[in-house]
Amino acid sequence: MAASIQLNVRSIKAPFNLTPVPKQCPKPSRISCAAAAATPTKRYSITLLPGDGIGPEIIFVTKNVLKLAGSLEGIEFSFQEMPMGGAALDLTGVPLPEETLSAAKKADAILLGAIGGYKWDKNEKHLKPETGLLQLREGLKVFANLRPATVLPQLVDSSTLKKDVAEGVDLMVVRELTGGIYFGKPRGFGINEKGEDIGFNTEVYATHEIARKRRGQLCSVDKANVLEASMLWRKRVTAIASEYPDVELSHMYVDNAAMQLVRYPKQFDTIVTNNIFGDILSDEASMITGSIGMLPSASLGESGPGLFEPIHGSAPDIAGQDKANPLATILSAAMLLKYGLGEENAAKRIENAVLDTLNRGFRTGDIYSAGNKLVGCKEMGEEVLKSVDSPVLAAI
Ligand code: IPM
Ligand code: MG
Repeated sequence: MAASIQLNVRSIKAPFNLTPVPKQCPKPSRISCAAAAATPTKRYSITLLPGDGIGPEIIFVTKNVLKLAGSLEGIEFSFQEMPMGGAALDLTGVPLPEETLSAAKKADAILLGAIGGYKWDKNEKHLKPETGLLQLREGLKVFANLRPATVLPQLVDSSTLKKDVAEGVDLMVVRELTGGIYFGKPRGFGINEKGEDIGFNTEVYATHEIARKRRGQLCSVDKANVLEASMLWRKRVTAIASEYPDVELSHMYVDNAAMQLVRYPKQFDTIVTNNIFGDILSDEASMITGSIGMLPSASLGESGPGLFEPIHGSAPDIAGQDKANPLATILSAAMLLKYGLGEENAAKRIENAVLDTLNRGFRTGDIYSAGNKLVGCKEMGEEVLKSVDSPVLAAI
């Protein structure tokens, strides 16, 4: 399972690290820029896993953004679309077909939309779309999940928190992704001594699975006042931190962290935590930023391709209606370029394009506020494409 990980806190300030993108065109127009694009010198293969619900819509839009940003930096992508989640269940009877996993392993990076939906909710566990996602993470050994939550000035009014609390929040949740209660054994259903049905899971961590630390301010979140697995977590984090005197380490219980996130979120720089606490806290952190529809993620292992996905789900209630916010997936593509392929310039083009599109007032329903232009998923994608093509440094 997960191995230890070393990350530099300062180097994971994704996704809004703004430096000017060189202008390709004096008078921006998509056509002239495309013509000016360098002959591709680098080629990467990307496995696309559109999945379910809004997945196919957001992946369609993001693929075009990735293609254009790449072409302007001399990068050519080959895309291979594979079934996953409910779509794969309908097609093949399993949520993660072997062909999908092996294609993903061979790719340079993987971009996932979302999985799940009402249709498969009652399936047995091994036939749930979510099981496919866990199998994918495990199969790719991507144990470190980076979930940045940055409050953009353009969207500060979309936050459910007061402006002065939300303004300037820029934090990163680093979630352990292939261990803990999600994978621990024993697990299952049974009957207790009173004859009642029971369901049980095991929170278990081995020392090698506990994330190693970096520089900067690091807050390790656990439940070490109650759980043995958390006691080991804290011990291990503390031991490793002594090797990194430049890391300012603090510890916080998860219940307190949940409260502090809405009380004074600016106190956090990087939070490192286990699988289930990271799942919960990253959803909470996302709302500080205005919408879960804005937040990307990167899942990385020690080697092999990374998996990049928005942290939101498949939103079956709005699927197929062209209402989804594609920005979390587009920003996941920027993380793919930055962390997966080391293509910083192309990543910056996308980050800047998203900011520029917001500056120009385009909003999907989840981030809409009066005075802006309400657009659907496709139109938002088209506007981002225009901004990729005519890079201006979008001031945060
Ligand atoms: C997430 C999701 C998944 C998780 C589900 C869909 C299995 O909530 O990526 O945060 O719990 O990890
Ligand atoms: Mg989640």
